[in-house]
Amino acid sequence: MSNVIPNKEEIVLENNRYLVSETDANGLITYCNDYFTQISGYNREELIGHQHNIIRHPDMPRVIFKLLWERIQSGKNINAVVKNLAKDGKFYWIFTEFKTRLDLDTNSVIGYTAHRKTISHDAVEVISELYSKLKKIEQEENMDAAEKYLNEYLQAKGSKINFVNLLDHIHKFY
Ligand SMILES: Cc1cc2nc3c(=O)[nH]c(=O)nc-3n(C[C@H](O)[C@H](O)[C@H](O)COP(=O)(O)O)c2cc1C
Repeated sequence: MSNVIPNKEEIVLENNRYLVSETDANGLITYCNDYFTQISGYNREELIGHQHNIIRHPDMPRVIFKLLWERIQSGKNINAVVKNLAKDGKFYWIFTEFKTRLDLDTNSVIGYTAHRKTISHDAVEVISELYSKLKKIEQEENMDAAEKYLNEYLQAKGSKINFVNLLDHIHKFY
């Protein structure tokens, strides 16, 4: 975790440019592209060999990362909206596609890859409201209660929507 103090300034991302990073099977960063280093404000020496929680924003609910890890560790891909913290305290919202890289001979995880791109303001409005509710539940109760709330929220949206495609749905809808 970083000691960066968040401020309220947003970094606006360019369209059609991806922030890419890769990790080994333990989640330690092995690669990041130039746009990732530029936006995060960290140089490669500060990133390679570290966890992505260096850019974790304190507004992010823990349950989202719990579900993310459960999913990618079981070899399944997932998309998620994430709010990240830059080295100078600014924040940026991204739509992230997480992919698991598997050794096809042994079916074991080699590592993970994330492609991040900009997301519409309307989608951020919906998701940030949901995330702040989840965060509040985590603070006042615990992560299990937040997970329960999230499941109920998804159920209320209809049986075709689950955590994996909720964010796709929001993305398309807005
Ligand atoms: C390929 C990959 C990319 C990730 N990208 C991010 C990211 O952009 N922001 C983030 O906060 N966490 C990201 N994570 C999740 C972090 O590893 C971590 O679980 C999260 O920041 C929560 O921190 P914690 O595990 O210390 O609670 C990523 C994980 C993987 C495997």
